This record gives sequence, C-alpha cells and structure tokens, in this order.
Amino acid sequence: MYGKDELLSAMENTAKVCGAIIRGAKEEHVAATEKTNFRDLVTSYDVKVQQTAISMLSEIFPDAAFFCEEGDDRGNLSSECTFVIDPIDGTANFSCHMNISCISIGCFSGGEPYAGVVYDPYNDELYSAARGYGAYLNGKRIHVTDDPLEHTLVMVGTSPYNLELLDRTLEKLKYIFPKCLDIRRRGAAALDLCAVACGRSGLFFEEILALWDYAAGLVILEEAGGEAYTMEGRPLPLDGRKSNIVAGSPRCVRESGLLEGVGTRD
Ligand code: IPD
Ligand code: CA
Ligand code: CA
Repeated sequence: MYGKDELLSAMENTAKVCGAIIRGAKEEHVAATEKTNFRDLVTSYDVKVQQTAISMLSEIFPDAAFFCEEGDDRGNLSSECTFVIDPIDGTANFSCHMNISCISIGCFSGGEPYAGVVYDPYNDELYSAARGYGAYLNGKRIHVTDDPLEHTLVMVGTSPYNLELLDRTLEKLKYIFPKCLDIRRRGAAALDLCAVACGRSGLFFEEILALWDYAAGLVILEEAGGEAYTMEGRPLPLDGRKSNIVAGSPRCVRESGLLEGVGTRD
C-alpha cells in the first residue's frame, strides 16, 4: 500500500481541484439528465469531476483501481488500492444551485476502508482521515460530540431515488423528532457523515445509500470516534451492495433506539 502521507495529500489535492470545478459551475446553467428516475440526476459536471479525479489519481498511483458512481468505472474493491469516488454528492442541490454539495474520495486497501477525503467547496471545508491517524477538518483534529441526543441535530436522508422506502423514513422521523434538538435534511450524505464526525450533528440515518456515498465518510466518522451500522446493527457492507445506515456518536446511536427495531426491515 502507498504511504499514508502521499496518499492523503494526493486525495486532498484532487478533491480541491475537483471542488473548484464544482464551485465554478454555480452560476451556469447546469443541464441534468435522468438516470433511474426523475429525481436521480447526472450532469456534465458529475462526469467531468469524476474524469478529473480518476486522471489525477491514476497519474500518481498507476496501479490503483476505481469504483465510481458515474458510468462503468466499477473496479475491484479488494485490490491493494481502490479509490471509491462520488464526484458530486448532492447532485440535486448542485443542479438547483443550492450550494450544498461535495466531492467524496474513499480509499480501500484489500477490501477495507483505509482513508477518506470529503471536500465542501462552498465552505472551503476539507475533511480527511486515514485509519489509525485520526480525523481532521482543515488540518484540525475533529471528534464526535459527547452531548445527549436531545441536545443535538439529527441529519436525515430521504432516499429520494427509492420512493418505496418513504414510509420507513417518515416513521423514523416521527419517532426521532421528539428525542432530539431538531432534524435537518441537507441533501448530501457524505457531508451529513462529516457533520456527525465534527460534532455539529449527533446522528445521521437514511434507508438506502451506495458505497460511494459513505466510503470516505465512514473512515472520517470512525476516526473521529463515531460509529456506523446498518439498521439491523451490523457493519456496513463494503462489497458495493447498497445499505441502510445509522451513524452517530456512540451516545447518540444508543439513545436513538434506531437499532432496536423501530421501522427496521422485516
Ligand atoms: C445522494 C445524496 C442524498 C441522499 C441520496 C444520495 P447523489 O447522492 O447524498 O443526500 O439522500 O441517498 O444518493 O445522488 O447526490 O450523489
Ligand atoms: Ca451520493
Ligand atoms: Ca453523486
């Protein structure tokens, strides 16, 4: 495996270059094309950012594999170095000029998440972590909150591409709302995980996410002292299968009761 410093600095540099492309598009008309349904969008920027990230990283790490959201770049997740990339997390926000989007770059080694970088170009916030080395926001160490759930904001994802999951989401919203400070729906899962990692939020949950949504955020969250599970309380799948997720500080996950059978799958 490549050295931690070389790897992180290449991932960070790539994320910043890609972030500038995302931010630079904000005043333009961003044409969106539908993928699986009318909410599931891709723009020319998703494609351009992904191509830029792949070309920058493969120049430095020629043997690396890639597992990316757009197109057919779904390489072997068990190779010595596989980058798992969501070029624009928050594409609906991006296409509506909401300015809440990021690029997410995870790095797997031998099938395990090893490093993660998430960059929010609108706030110039760079989250990064490598296994065993802690999690950082713009170079400053971050940690999940110690606060009780009732003093924290809960981030939720609405699984917009899977309408059949709406009732489960609404049931959990109704259950969790009386237990927390308030609920937020921002529209970028990688940023939600990072919000938990740096203590701005205590808990995040969503009924379905893809690996590229959480590959980087998972390392950042865990290195910040947080936890992430499927709603059945199992580790998140790392083989490319989609999954539901409950992520938070250990205290907020426990106090949420979300792993104890509320609206979980049959
Ligand atoms: C989506 C966002 C959204 C979440 C969806 C994701 P995309 O990613 O993270 O917040 O609710 O489940 O698919 O499609 O904008 O990369
Ligand atoms: Ca995403
Ligand atoms: Ca995306």
